[in-house]
Amino acid sequence: MGSLHRVAHRGYSAVAPENTLPAFAAGVLAGATFIEFDVRTTADGVPVVIHDRTVDRTTDGAGKVWELTLDEIARLDAGSWFSSAYAGICVPKLAEVLELLRPHAGVELLLEIKPPANLEQVKFILGQVGDAGLLTRTVVQSFDPAIVRLAGEVAPDVRRGLLRDAFDTSQVEVAQELGVSFCNPSMNAVLGSPETVAALAGAGVAVMPWTANDTALWPDLVGAGVAGLITDHTGELTGWAQNVSSGASSSSA
Ligand code: G3P
Ligand code: CA
Repeated sequence: MGSLHRVAHRGYSAVAPENTLPAFAAGVLAGATFIEFDVRTTADGVPVVIHDRTVDRTTDGAGKVWELTLDEIARLDAGSWFSSAYAGICVPKLAEVLELLRPHAGVELLLEIKPPANLEQVKFILGQVGDAGLLTRTVVQSFDPAIVRLAGEVAPDVRRGLLRDAFDTSQVEVAQELGVSFCNPSMNAVLGSPETVAALAGAGVAVMPWTANDTALWPDLVGAGVAGLITDHTGELTGWAQNVSSGASSSSA
């Protein structure tokens, strides 16, 4: 097996509350080559890292992210829903996540911009990434092709990815038209259409499926030609990838 990207989905979210600084630190320690996270913008224009449209599931608050101010979001507990051990952990600002990841030169960022996001917000998000000196270590992705396009207009050199639900060979044209480096569908989509992975690879577009939590399926996904696996189980993936690599090298020795 060649080098496989190990992508910590919302950080090492099997062991720490998703999209929080402890989850990102755990992902780094567990050997992630990419940290994946989700960015939304508050009512007062500050990018924060949270998956859902509302704060309801992952904090002790309620309401839509874009209708709450940073102060209102910063007061929330984003750890207790996961475990009392994480009580008091906050929803991080994007700037805090960038600061945490910046010293880890071998770790790349898979930054998903969640809709809705307008040009000004995309510009501000990528401005913060640029200010942190992390544009070359970042892949910006979204399910919304319009956001992927905006990211390309704002930062033409940044690598971009398109997240997909539907996955067939017609995606090659879509990916080429958008100029993306990655096309990332669900795990089941990859297993159902390995020929699309090959067609995209032929066009220079890498595929990293989500959310690959069933370890029994990792060999088939790798066999389908994926460039990486996006998983909640970062540590397990690091261990598995090392075992596969060492097994391959010892059998060929
Ligand atoms: O990076 C892929 C994955 O994060 C997309 O789905 O819903 O977890 O953001 P979601
Ligand atoms: Ca995501």
